[in-house]
Amino acid sequence: MLVSSTPYRTIWPHGDLVRIIDQRRLPWSFELLDLHNVAEVAHAIRDMAVRGAGLIGATAGYGMALAAREAATPEALADFAAELVATRPTAVNLSWAVQRQLHAIQMGGFEHRVEIARLEAEKIADEDAAACAAIGQHGFRLIQEIAERKPGQVVNVLTHCNAGWLAFVDHGSATSPIYAAHAADIPIHVWVDETRPRNQGARLTAWELGQQGVPHTVVADNTGGHLMQHGLVDLVITGADRVTRCGDVANKIGTYLKALAARDNAIPFYVALPSSTFDWTLRDGVREIPIEQRGADEVTHLEGVDEQGQVQTLRIVSAGSPAANYGFDVTPARLITGLITERGVCAANEAAISAMHPR
Ligand code: MRU
Repeated sequence: MLVSSTPYRTIWPHGDLVRIIDQRRLPWSFELLDLHNVAEVAHAIRDMAVRGAGLIGATAGYGMALAAREAATPEALADFAAELVATRPTAVNLSWAVQRQLHAIQMGGFEHRVEIARLEAEKIADEDAAACAAIGQHGFRLIQEIAERKPGQVVNVLTHCNAGWLAFVDHGSATSPIYAAHAADIPIHVWVDETRPRNQGARLTAWELGQQGVPHTVVADNTGGHLMQHGLVDLVITGADRVTRCGDVANKIGTYLKALAARDNAIPFYVALPSSTFDWTLRDGVREIPIEQRGADEVTHLEGVDEQGQVQTLRIVSAGSPAANYGFDVTPARLITGLITERGVCAANEAAISAMHPR
């Protein structure tokens, strides 16, 4: 996607290194960061220099390509794989990409590991970008149908967190249909949940929509229900970090509350995901999906820029008050209108998911 009119992906190989957009600096500054080894890749994932399910998976894929160069034995390679998988627990794309690399190396022979892992990392990244582009085309039709029902009027989409191109290699999942509609001149406007505590909506989604010229408005997280009650939301599209084979969706904390409000107001609630985000081993998302808990400082403190453009961090919680930081929640399948994947739109239930994604 475009950054100051120049096309970028979020991650790419650069000689023997891996180059990323450092998302900890956005939107205050656009900085690239080189990752030289597995330890740096692991730190980039854990510290959220890269984040979002698809991009975490692609980064793990490139991390395994670096691991293949660093590891002299299969045991050392397995240790690097474990180090990467341990960085963040909820997005399943992480372990999916690592397992895919280990399998490819096992099939091709350990002695060929460097070339195999390099090619596999490229494939993982290219497939992620292609899946997101296809999600855009399938989701576009949903937006087009709404636009046809209200000719000449703006279609209002609400999204939560950042399931944009910054969360993937390119295009995004939830934003890809929005970009497709915008490119087709459908008048569209996006309500962007700020997404406390890390503000991925306010910082990342708003920035990337702005870069593409898509009209949008940032709202405090608790605003969605009010907007829905007043007819200001036609459609909700969120991303996903892990989806069970029965259609339960783990996504950024607060997604469940948006789904409840959407159901109460008869507003369609769609979840966009590449099939690499399905966890085929799980059925019951509430009980089975591991939910990341991060440091309390992300709740007690807020980062922003002052009037001089200097980045500042402020405490916003009474000193001494403890804080809890649950990163994700699970939206039960019964609240989800449909899943938008690279293969099309299907209902969020086991039969429909497995019919569209036979294994
Ligand atoms: O903690 P993050 O930023 O890695 O969380 C991921 C997200 O941005 C959202 O949950 C997103 O909707 C799903 S990732 C495509």
